[in-house]
Amino acid sequence: MKKSLILGLFASLLPLIGQAQIDWQPIEPGVWKGVVGTPEKYSLLSVAECSPLKEGLLRLPNADIPPISDKITGNIQDGKTALCFPLEKEEQIYGFGLNFKTVHQRGRILELHVDHYHERDDGRTHAPVPFYVSSSGYGVLINSARYIKVYAGSGIRKDSPNADIARDRNTDKKWTAKAYSDAVSILIPAEGVEIYLFAGPTPMDAIRRYNLFCGGGAMPPRWGLGFTQRTQSLFSAEQVKKETDEFERRGYPLDFMGLEPGWQSKAYPCTFEWDKNRYPAPATFIKEMKDKGVRVNLWTNPYVSPSSSIYKALYPLSCSHTVWCGIVPDFNNEEARTIWKDKLEKEHFNIGVSGYKIDEVDGGDRHLWPDVATFPSGVTAEQMRQTYGLWVQKISYDIYKKHNQRTYGLVRGSNAGGNSLPYVIYNDYYNHRDFITALINSGFIGILWTPEVRRSDNSEDWLRRFQSVVFSPMAMLNAWSKGLKPWSFPDVAEQVKELMLLRMRMIPYWYTEFARYHFDGIPPFRAMNLEPGFNTEQTIIEEIKVTDLEKNPYLEAVSQEIKDQYMAGEYLLVAPMFYGEKKRKVVLPKGNWYDFYTGDYAGNGEIITVTPGLDKIPVFVKDGAIIPFMNPMLHTPKSGEKFDLEIRHYGKADGSYRLYDDDGETFDYEKGEYSWREIKVNRDKNGKLKGYISKAEKGKPDNIGKVTWKFMTLK
Ligand code: GAL
Repeated sequence: MKKSLILGLFASLLPLIGQAQIDWQPIEPGVWKGVVGTPEKYSLLSVAECSPLKEGLLRLPNADIPPISDKITGNIQDGKTALCFPLEKEEQIYGFGLNFKTVHQRGRILELHVDHYHERDDGRTHAPVPFYVSSSGYGVLINSARYIKVYAGSGIRKDSPNADIARDRNTDKKWTAKAYSDAVSILIPAEGVEIYLFAGPTPMDAIRRYNLFCGGGAMPPRWGLGFTQRTQSLFSAEQVKKETDEFERRGYPLDFMGLEPGWQSKAYPCTFEWDKNRYPAPATFIKEMKDKGVRVNLWTNPYVSPSSSIYKALYPLSCSHTVWCGIVPDFNNEEARTIWKDKLEKEHFNIGVSGYKIDEVDGGDRHLWPDVATFPSGVTAEQMRQTYGLWVQKISYDIYKKHNQRTYGLVRGSNAGGNSLPYVIYNDYYNHRDFITALINSGFIGILWTPEVRRSDNSEDWLRRFQSVVFSPMAMLNAWSKGLKPWSFPDVAEQVKELMLLRMRMIPYWYTEFARYHFDGIPPFRAMNLEPGFNTEQTIIEEIKVTDLEKNPYLEAVSQEIKDQYMAGEYLLVAPMFYGEKKRKVVLPKGNWYDFYTGDYAGNGEIITVTPGLDKIPVFVKDGAIIPFMNPMLHTPKSGEKFDLEIRHYGKADGSYRLYDDDGETFDYEKGEYSWREIKVNRDKNGKLKGYISKAEKGKPDNIGKVTWKFMTLK
C-alpha cells in the first residue's frame, strides 16, 4: 500500500479516535437504527406509538445505508450522550424544529425545547422535532424526549483533518469568529439514545421515509380542507348560529366553526363542560349547525379545573404542580388517559363535535410546570414537557379513530412521531413573513402549520394574509379576540370571498396532495430546496466555480436561504406578497413555469419580478401540470355527494396526474376503500390537446360527476 494512501486512511480515521462508532441495523426499507448506551424507555416514538406505513416505504427506491453511517459516533460522557455526525464542505442542513426565521440550519446552536415561539430560532418552539435532513440526501432522527442540545455545524475537534488553519486576526482579512465546523454535534441529557438514519438518494426521499416510518402524513377529512372561522371567545350558541347564517347569506364558504374558551363553564383551567347559559342545549346546537352544513370544533387546554367532574378522580393521577391552579393529568398513566378520554367522548364526540383545538401544551415556562415537578408515573417534568402535545393529540384522535370518523384540529405543541396526527400547529405570534418561513420549515419535519389570519391594521395586510392562508394546510380566520369576519374590511371583502371560493374550488387538488402526504410521505407544503430543478447547494457550488456570481443572479439567489416562497402540492409555486409590497422577486426553478391565473409563460431557471396588484397572490405552475378544480361550493361535498370537475392543464408538456378519491370522512381508506384516477393530457394527431380520466375501479369510491377540461396555456 502506498504511503500516501496509508496516511490518508489514517487521517480519515483520526476524528474517530476515542469515539465509538455506531452499529446500524436495518429496520425498514431505507431506514436504519443505531443505539448508544442504554436508551430510555420513554421516548418521542414510544408516546406517539406510530407504526411504519410499509407499502409506502416499499414504493421508494432501494437504497444503501448513507455513506456517513460509519463516521457517526456516540459516547456516554458526564452522564449524557454525545453524538457526532460528519458534514461535508458544501452540505446544508434543514429541519430541527419549527423555525420561523431561518431555513438553513448549518452553523446554528439550538436547544430543542417545547415552548411558545419567542422570536428567536434557538430551539424553543412549538414542535422542536429532533430530525434533520441534509442536502446530501439523508435524514437523522434522535428519538429522545429530553431537551436536546444541537450544534448544527458549530465546533470542530482538534484532530479533525478538515480544520481550517489558524489565522492572525491582526493581519489576515480571512479571519472569522465563526471557524469552520465539519460536524453536527448533539448532546442528550440521558445515558443512551436511539438514532434513526433515513436514506435518500434525495433530501425529499429521506423526508418521505421519515414521514412513512412515522405512519405516513396526516389525512384530514375532506371538510377539514374547507374554510374555518373561530368565533369570539364568549359567543353563545345563538351568536354562533347567527354568524354561521351570515356566512351563508353573504356567500362565504364555511366548513367548520371553532368555539373558543367561552363554550366551557370555566376555562383556564378547564372544566370541559358546556356553559349552561351560553350553550343551554349543546346537542341540539351541534345538530342545528350540522344541518347548516357546518361542523363544530372545540378549543380546550388539558389543565383540569377544580370545578370539573373529573378533577377528583384525576387528582392523584396528576403532576405535583398545577397550571393556572388546574391539575395536569399524567397522561403516561392509562387510567388518567381513560378518565379524560371518556369525558370528551361522552360529552363532545357523542353529540357530534368534530374535533379540538388543543391550546397551551407548548409553554411558556411561566405558566407550565417547572422542571422540578414530578408525575406519578415517574416520567420527568422535562420528558412530559417534550411530549404533552403528542399525548393530547393522540388521546383525542383515538376517540375519532375508535368510531371510524376522521377529525382535523389544531394544536400548539407537538414533536417527532406526530406525523400522522391530524392537527395543525398555530400560535399567538403574528408576523406574516415569519409565518411563511414556518410553513416552509414544517415540510422538513413532518408537521403541519397554518399562517392563520387573526387581525390587521388595514385592509391590505388583511387581504395579503388571506391570500397566504388559502394556500396552506388550514384556511382559518381565528377571530377569538376581535370577532372579525372575512368581510370585516369592506373594501377588500369581495377579494377575500373570491379567495375563499378559490380554496373551495381547489379542494380536489388539496385532498389529493394530502393523500400523497399520507400514502407516499410527500409534504404538501414545502421548501424550494426540495424541488427538482431547484439547485441544491452542492450543484450550485459546482456551477459557481465556473460562473461569476455577479453575472448570474439566479445562482446567487438559490445559494441563499429562500424563506418567502414555497411549493404547494405537486405543481404550484406560491410567492406571497406582504403588506406594503408592490412588487417582489420570485425564483423560478429550472423547467418552464406558467402563471396560475392566465396560463402565460412566466420563466425558466431565473428570477422574475412580479407586480401582481393587490388582488392577486403570485402563483406559478409547472409545465404539464394538471390541477383538478371543482365548483365553488359553500361547504365541501358530503360523503357520497358527487361533484363536477374542471381539470386544468398548464404549459406545453403532456400531463399526467393521479387524482385521489375516497369517502372523505372515515378510515376505510386504510382498508383499501379509495381510488386513484389516472388523468392524462396529450396531443392528438392534429396537435390538439386532449384530456383523459380513467374510471374509478369497480366498487371503489367514485364522487366525480361531470368532467370538463381547460387548457390554460394552449387555449
Ligand atoms: C390562546 C390561543 C388563541 C386563542 C386564545 C383564547 O392561547 O393561542 O388562538 O385560542 O388562547 O383564549
